[in-house]
Amino acid sequence: MDLSVTIGSLTLPNPLIAASGCFGYGVEYSDVVDLSTLGGVAVKGLFLAEREGHPPPRIVETPAGMLNAIGLQGIGVHRFIREKLPELRDRRAIVFVNICGTTIDEYVELARILSDAEGVAALELNISCPNIKEGGITFGCSLPGTHAVVSAVRKVTSLPVIPKLTPNVTDVASFARAAADAGADAVSLVNTFLAMAIDVETRRPKLSNIVGGLSGPAIRPIAVRMVYECRRAVTIPIIGMGGIATASDVLEFMIAGATAVQVGTANFVDPFIWRTLLDGLRDYMARHEIAELSGIVGTIDTSKREQAWISS
Ligand SMILES: Cc1cc2nc3c(=O)[nH]c(=O)nc-3n(C[C@H](O)[C@H](O)[C@H](O)COP(=O)(O)O)c2cc1C
Repeated sequence: MDLSVTIGSLTLPNPLIAASGCFGYGVEYSDVVDLSTLGGVAVKGLFLAEREGHPPPRIVETPAGMLNAIGLQGIGVHRFIREKLPELRDRRAIVFVNICGTTIDEYVELARILSDAEGVAALELNISCPNIKEGGITFGCSLPGTHAVVSAVRKVTSLPVIPKLTPNVTDVASFARAAADAGADAVSLVNTFLAMAIDVETRRPKLSNIVGGLSGPAIRPIAVRMVYECRRAVTIPIIGMGGIATASDVLEFMIAGATAVQVGTANFVDPFIWRTLLDGLRDYMARHEIAELSGIVGTIDTSKREQAWISS
């Protein structure tokens, strides 16, 4: 059985990538997960400098999901290269570095630095974090902003460039198109949905940041719809995510049009989820006599619906 998938110049052994912010820098999990068996590891979002993030409380459980407003706490790119990348290399992880900036110049600088670092497989541009005041989502919510940041990074790196799109827009497909036009090798989606929760006894917001990002199974059907819309709009590969917790969820994203997927919140429930997901994919392939998993990408059958439209 062949589970491999291709994203630009990258071939991944399987489509399962750990989502940024839900798997640390990967090395924290290396005693419980063989990182080389994953399709990839998207590390926690990195700025040029270290950041403290928001004060607690910054995580709240919600029905079928969670809210977070971490505020992109991180060790900064230089410490990452010194302290984390060597072990990721030793463990043969395929490393997607999630980069964040408040200006285009910061994204460009990060891309330059990481392009010279050994062991980085791809750059995921976080233009979609809902939890910081400046940068990030400001680019991701503007079509010219998305185009500008992607093309600026494209010019300075030969690594695959993968902008991560926000779902907090009306027409996500137009953002995928802007990213593709600017030279992105793939797009990943979705980041979290802007949301909030209130403690009615105290009438205070449950997060110190007041608002945060919703993730987990609660968002999955919306994320699947967005992947489907983007698949119809662009030809570059799509990395889909949002609430994946079972092999069937992975397949749903792939059939909707995702070449690979990321798994985030589910790691907090079950850090050993990877084996279960891989076994489930193999079982599906055996039952459906599929030799190459990549063959199912975008194979959603909407013919009955289309025929109903035509005849009505
Ligand atoms: C605690 C937490 C931290 C996150 N940090 C980042 C981050 O640093 N960069 C990023 O692009 N996305 C970040 N995300 C978003 C996830 O990578 C993912 O896009 C989102 O959670 C949807 O997937 P899921 O439902 O499988 O978690 C974070 C999500 C959570 C829950």
